[in-house]
Order: sequence, then structure tokens, then C-alpha cells
Amino acid sequence: MDKKLQSPTPAKDPKLEMEGETGQKSETEPSNKSRDENMNIGFIGAGNMAKAIVKGLLDSYPGDRIFISAPTDRNLAFFQKLKCRTTHNNNDIVSQCQVVFLCVKPSQCELVIREVTSWQNKLIISVLAGIPLERLSRMMKEDPPPKLIRCAPNTPMMVSRGVCCISPGAGVPVQDTQLALELLKPSCLVVKTVPESQLDAICALSGSGPAFLYMVIEALSDGAVKMGLPRDLAIELAAATVEGSARMVTHTGYHPGQLKDAVASPGGTTICGIHVLEKGAVRALFMDAIEATTKKSLQLRGSQ
Ligand SMILES: NC(=O)c1ccc[n+]([C@@H]2O[C@H](COP(=O)([O-])OP(=O)(O)OC[C@H]3O[C@@H](n4cnc5c(N)ncnc54)[C@H](OP(=O)(O)O)[C@@H]3O)[C@@H](O)[C@H]2O)c1
Repeated sequence: MDKKLQSPTPAKDPKLEMEGETGQKSETEPSNKSRDENMNIGFIGAGNMAKAIVKGLLDSYPGDRIFISAPTDRNLAFFQKLKCRTTHNNNDIVSQCQVVFLCVKPSQCELVIREVTSWQNKLIISVLAGIPLERLSRMMKEDPPPKLIRCAPNTPMMVSRGVCCISPGAGVPVQDTQLALELLKPSCLVVKTVPESQLDAICALSGSGPAFLYMVIEALSDGAVKMGLPRDLAIELAAATVEGSARMVTHTGYHPGQLKDAVASPGGTTICGIHVLEKGAVRALFMDAIEATTKKSLQLRGSQ
């Protein structure tokens, strides 16, 4: 960095900034009071999202308290190796677990809900993109309505660097929201409670965002390969550069624009690259991508 940064905001408490390897405080910080070591936690669906959440849970729960169902064995083997309990019967999950994560594809949701005899007294956490709480509740046909939380996770949860926002439905007790945050926290850098109306934009930003950033990493390394670097080295450096730059934003409190200016010295090399990106309207493209993704999510919801 060749330019001194001026802080526009009071410096953040460095102790809070550096808390834990995974960093930040959530808006509604889990208190650790909601955890019951004897509680069983269930997953209906054994794919990418279930794997990501279970990997974090295993920090605090033994495998034999985690139950997973799926119609075939193809993903269940992963959980069996982790000593979790597996089944092909979704009713086993709901009857034996106090908390149930719904981790199937949105198109499979209606069938799964019909299969289950009763959701009463369970805390149900849905990771299904684009299915609103009101619709899930209607499909479950329970009176009183079940305790439902909608959750927008992302795949970096697989490596404990996820982002996950949750919206509790009406009538979900505060302790249950705390419990959900606590269960998700080990897999996440950021876990927050947000209004459900923000979830479509959040799915675009942090749910689809990893795909956009993989393209950035690939494109940066393509450029470096063009300039003669070996592919492996280029990918390693590009990924670490993205990770380090993200950490500068989260750990210094500076606006990304200020951090960008600090790299670009007058008449230097970086500003020439920035000029090329601006000519290609790279910022407008990223904004358009988030807008298009959010709109698609809204459109899918409207068509259900
Ligand atoms: N992937 C992401 O980045 C992401 C991000 C945010 C939200 N989400 C949401 O997360 C949810 C799951 O996505 P995913 O990527 O984990 O999907 P996935 O990898 O395709 O996994 C789906 C799982 O559901 C199982 N399944 C299918 N029918 C079932 C049934 N009738 N009963 C029980 N299980 C059934 C499948 O079983 P088999 O193992 O037998 O095939 C599979 O294990 C989706 O609703 C998606 O919207 C995903």
C-alpha cells in the first residue's frame, strides 16, 4: 500500500475486530444459552447445504445427535463417515429431532411436506431459496402454525467461512431464533437476523455471490497466465488476493473505495488497470448481476 489511509470513522475496537478466526459479531449474537447438548438435530435432504451446515455443527454436537434423510445413499455415505445417523424416511427425522433443517430443492419441498405426518412442536429451519414463510406454513396445514425460520445460507459454509441470514416467522420464540443462530454460527463468518423482505437480495449477494467471485478469481488468473505465470500459481495468488482484500474491508473499517485508492498511486501501474476496468463498466456489470439475480428470485416466487 503506497498511500496513507485517513480513517473517516472512529477506529473499531481491535479486540472485537479480531474475535475468533472467523471474525465478526452477528447482529443478534448467539448467547450459548439456547444449546441443549442432548438435543437431536435433523436434516431432510443430504446435499451441498446439509453437508455445509453439518460440518460446522460437528464442532459442538456429536455425530450421533445429527440425523439425515435422503431417498438414495449417494450423499448419505458422507454423513455415515462422520458417524451421523441416516435414514431414507423423512418421518424418522421429524419424530426424533427437535430441530429440523429442510435442505431439499424448492421443487422437492411440497412432496416432502406432504410425506411428514406432523411438524408440531418442532423448530423448522428452511434453506429453500425463494419459498416464503407464509407459503411453507400454508403447505404444512398445521394449527397452530409450526415454528418456522427461513434461512439464506451460502456454500462457503463448507469451509466455515459462510454467510447466513435468517428470518423467523411470526410466533417463533426468541430462544428458538437464538438457537438457530447458534447452530449456524460455527460455519459462518457472518450470521444475522434480517426481515424476510431482504432475503431475495441477500440470496443474490451472498448466495449467488460466490459464483460471481469464482469468475473473478478465474478471470484474474487467466490474465496472469496470459502474462506468463503458471496456472496453479495464478489461481493460488488470485484466490489469496481476493481473501486478503476481503479481510482488509472487514478488519480495517475503511470503505472499499478508500482501500482501492490506497493501492493506486498517482501515475502508477494500478490506476492503468483500473482505467481499463472502468472503460468496461465492470461496476455496472456487477450491479446488474445482483439486480438480475434478485429479480429472478422474485419472479420464481411469483410463479409458484
Ligand atoms: N447450493 C447453494 O449455494 C445454495 C445457496 C442457498 C440456498 N440453497 C438452497 O438449499 C437447498 C438445497 O440445495 P443443495 O445445493 O444442498 O441441493 P442438493 O445438493 O441437490 O441436495 C438436495 C438433497 O435433497 C434430497 N432429496 C430429494 N428428494 C428428497 C425427498 N423426497 N426427501 C428427502 N430428501 C430428498 C436429495 O437426495 P439424494 O441425495 O438422494 O439425491 C439431496 O440429498 C435448495 O432449496 C437451495 O435453494 C442452496
